Amino acid sequence: MVTSTFLLRFVTLALVLTTICADEGRSGLKEEKGMCDMVLNGTGYPCTEYTVETADGFLLGLQRISHGIEKSHGANKYPVLLQHGLFQGGDGWVLNFPGQSLGFILADEGFDVWIANGRCTRWSHGHKSYSRHDRGYWDWTWDELAQYDLPAMLEFIVTTTGSRVFYVGHSQGTILGLASFTQPAVTDMLAAAALLSPISYLDHISSNFINSAAHHYIDRMVKTMGLREFNLRSEVGVRLMDWVCQREDVDCGDLLAAITGPNCCFNVTRIPYYLQFEPHSTSLKNLAHLAQMIRRGTFCKYDYGFVGNLQHYLSLTPPNYDLTTIPGSLPLWMASGGNDALADPVDVVHTIEQLQRKPEIVVLPDYGHIDFILSIQAKVDLYDGIVAFFRAHADRCKAGISQVI
Ligand SMILES: *[C@@H]1O[C@H](CO)[C@@H](O)[C@H](O)[C@H]1NC(C)=O
Ligand SMILES: *[C@@H]1O[C@H](CO)[C@@H](O)[C@H](O)[C@H]1NC(C)=O
Repeated sequence: MVTSTFLLRFVTLALVLTTICADEGRSGLKEEKGMCDMVLNGTGYPCTEYTVETADGFLLGLQRISHGIEKSHGANKYPVLLQHGLFQGGDGWVLNFPGQSLGFILADEGFDVWIANGRCTRWSHGHKSYSRHDRGYWDWTWDELAQYDLPAMLEFIVTTTGSRVFYVGHSQGTILGLASFTQPAVTDMLAAAALLSPISYLDHISSNFINSAAHHYIDRMVKTMGLREFNLRSEVGVRLMDWVCQREDVDCGDLLAAITGPNCCFNVTRIPYYLQFEPHSTSLKNLAHLAQMIRRGTFCKYDYGFVGNLQHYLSLTPPNYDLTTIPGSLPLWMASGGNDALADPVDVVHTIEQLQRKPEIVVLPDYGHIDFILSIQAKVDLYDGIVAFFRAHADRCKAGISQVI
């Protein structure tokens, strides 16, 4: 039974917002205004919008906060790229107040902050030939985010700044990060990486909501609907949530907690503000890929079935991402949460075991999945640690960089 007031509120909002999304569809692919105007205007922080084209034709939105409020001119030295997770966009890094949000804190600490936006999120700018009504526009999973989106953004930043880049990923941002770090061309462009709620294996996920969706529904939806957008604000998104919440083993009393695990520390009175921007769309195929990982415990490319795999990969099974090939020279920092229903401690250990270089690790027993970006005390719990970690490896930004550019 769907009884929670939170869920009802969410659904009502979702219906209202569906209208807005439909308008977005009509006006083409582009928001009238970018994230700088819509989210950062009025904060006092400088913000510049860039568009980066991927090798497969997607036009990504990339924002730069080149310095903090105090500093009146000149860009800071060390570039950091912030990569959001599933159903999120770059706004997640600046939704709380300065002194709470990682995007603002890094800018105030002297970093040159770049905010990534995956293909097909609200702050990206479509595709050079597909419209959002074309199949090709939604024919991707995080494989493509790792193969095209992240390298394109890193190349742009390295070329613009002449420096290697620090990386921060959250959730799906750690999946595509770890997958991408197996490519030497990518790690050559990185100074160090901090992974919040690190994920590569997903078979111990403790969210009943997600498990249930992964085991019973997602593939069926892909089969009946084909390659499509998945938008939690749309009719289909709301229907999926209803289906899943009607199952006996799923308690949707607090929907967010049902999905992410209980979050200790985000600001509940700020939810209406968060919902002005979140959640963002993803592709149904991407959800199907994540569901494959949950069911099988693999960290590999999308499984098309025997015939499709032969066509795509010249092998019957999809290729693995081999975490042991991530170079030991790349400094890593990780933080995981005791209440995180998506990055389960068992899966996190599985990831770490395979890495050549053991990361610095912070464990926060009270943290759920969303706390890593929205906790009001994340500065003390996490972000000060990230700043110190990056400063300790700042020499890697410029060393031998001429060979990379
Ligand atoms: C940005 O803020 C200024 C001053 O507060 C305002 O005049 C302007 O309309 C805002 N721009 C947008 C896009 O909201
Ligand atoms: C929580 O959010 C509300 C609404 O934006 C804000 O007024 C309040 O100051 C926030 N509290 C903290 C501790 O940030």
